[in-house]
Amino acid sequence: MCGIVAYIGNKQAQTLLLEGLKRLEYRGYDSAGMATIEDGHVRVVRAVGRVSNLEDKLEDLGGLRGNLGMAHTRWATHGGVTEPNAHPHRDDKSGVCIIHNGIIENYAAIKTYLAEKGHKFTSDTDTEVLAMLIGELYEGDLEAAVQAALREVTGAYAIVVMCEKEPETLVCARKGSPLMVGVGNGEYIVASDGSAIVSHTTQAFHLDDYNVVKITRSGFHTSTIHNVPVNPKVVQLELELQEIELGGFSHFMQKEIFEQPKALRNCFRGRCDIDEGRVVLGGVSGFTKELIKARRVVLTAQGTALHAAMIGEYLIEDLAKIPAVAEYASEFRYRNPIIEDNTVVVAVSQSGETADTLAALREAKDRGALALGVVNVVGSSIARETDAGVYLRVGPEIGVASTKAFVGQVAVLTLVTLFLARRRYMSGDMCAQMMKSLQGVPEKIERILEQDSKIRQVTEKYIERENWLFLGRGYNYPTALEGALKLKEISYIHAEGMPAAEMKHGPIALINEGMPAVFIANRGRQYEKVISNIQEVRSRGGHVIVVATEGDENIKRVAEDVLYVPDIEEPLSPMLTVIPLQLMAYHAAVLRGHDVDKPRNLAKSVTVE
Ligand code: F6R
Repeated sequence: MCGIVAYIGNKQAQTLLLEGLKRLEYRGYDSAGMATIEDGHVRVVRAVGRVSNLEDKLEDLGGLRGNLGMAHTRWATHGGVTEPNAHPHRDDKSGVCIIHNGIIENYAAIKTYLAEKGHKFTSDTDTEVLAMLIGELYEGDLEAAVQAALREVTGAYAIVVMCEKEPETLVCARKGSPLMVGVGNGEYIVASDGSAIVSHTTQAFHLDDYNVVKITRSGFHTSTIHNVPVNPKVVQLELELQEIELGGFSHFMQKEIFEQPKALRNCFRGRCDIDEGRVVLGGVSGFTKELIKARRVVLTAQGTALHAAMIGEYLIEDLAKIPAVAEYASEFRYRNPIIEDNTVVVAVSQSGETADTLAALREAKDRGALALGVVNVVGSSIARETDAGVYLRVGPEIGVASTKAFVGQVAVLTLVTLFLARRRYMSGDMCAQMMKSLQGVPEKIERILEQDSKIRQVTEKYIERENWLFLGRGYNYPTALEGALKLKEISYIHAEGMPAAEMKHGPIALINEGMPAVFIANRGRQYEKVISNIQEVRSRGGHVIVVATEGDENIKRVAEDVLYVPDIEEPLSPMLTVIPLQLMAYHAAVLRGHDVDKPRNLAKSVTVE
């Protein structure tokens, strides 16, 4: 969602801020802006659309000077995509200037109060209201004014504030939206994620909820909004520059699809003890007893992460023999869920910041569940609020369409399942066999990736079609959902995923001459049944594309196009069957001329409800 970068130091802020904004572009946004303090005055430049539009405008205006400044990419929540609604927002009366990620829920009441005091608003945003509230409460101490204002607001925020009256100070705060401070040599870079910091320094600290930091060139001071001092821990950023650069690929999504074998090898490293037939997971081992006693596992997530969680549900019930359910976090959090004794809740999230997933986790924890995280971003909110967890270790995911994180989530959920299964029912030999197969997944993905040009050709055949179906059963029903989601989110083609058997209960009415239907029909318990479903589509004129197991020649009799994946135990198959679907979605978007890494209306990390 929105991105924040701010700077205080001895360099010209503009160059650094623009570079930071470009690194944050992947998060999704629809306008951008920048402000610096130049000769004691706040100057703001904003533009609708891409960061490059802002860059052009800055150039036309002769640029912004100053060694202290802030910049923002906005993803509209309150108010349309217009320049007046873009950040930074300034309170002319006090000279306060602010950028903000999140939503101030009680902004309407505050706006009424401020309007009564004579404030005039130039935007529809909650952020401008916060700027004016801070200005209203300013009595010569910016840090105190920010603390006082934040005591009045409800909602989520990561903010950076500066003020003409204190032109050597940045004040930042967070609740619910991530914010970190990079600590350089006589300079500080504040950002909503590490990618905007890592080219300048690898030392950084995360702000905790309700914390405020006042930064000057000579140091920083951290406190709560109630002015209680806190001591943040400066840590090494676990992010390498090459991980957030394209390195020869055309798009981050493409790079991340091709990176999956390496990402999985990293995920498995040190976690599979084949000799002992045991999975080693340091992040959950402290809770082994509670986990073995688990009577129910609730997996909660949104979007692609939910599809991984659904595969987790199948894995945990099938192999660890614990009742499991996967549920949208946005539904779980509001439906007054019953959490019985010995319930384990697993929050699955790439970013670790998804607002609904975080809220569902808190709800389950409050009701006594043991909370596990399956998260990619180290130190993220979900990672910090869970009792225990397992990181994906797949490296930063920049492409808005999640690919390597999905495969990483399924891989980690498989490891967690084997960890549980081995300690409950599974023999050491069986567990060792599954781990061997798991470790063979990266090499098998490499073989699928070699078919890239064939997958592109198949996609091209159907590129004009506006409606697609994705169908699978069992472990590959969630894969079908994921294939449909991938296609629609970057190519804007309408696609529906569903269990193949469900088609007869209504969706079959959609099938007309030439409609592409992608079936996942790898060898498995329901193979024959999927073949019957394929026949039903064919006999109504649909074009059948099948993801099948290598060596299955029969399938060619019922399919127009076949994309083969290597054979593997059924529970591990989604990590293979999803790869052709990711590539199809990628090629469809490229063939249609879309900006794959910046799909319309989408944000990488959804930090609002
Ligand atoms: C789709 C996609 C989203 C995310 C969802 C949850 O490609 O990326 O559906 O999976 O927004 O995000 P995380 O995993 O960060 O919680």
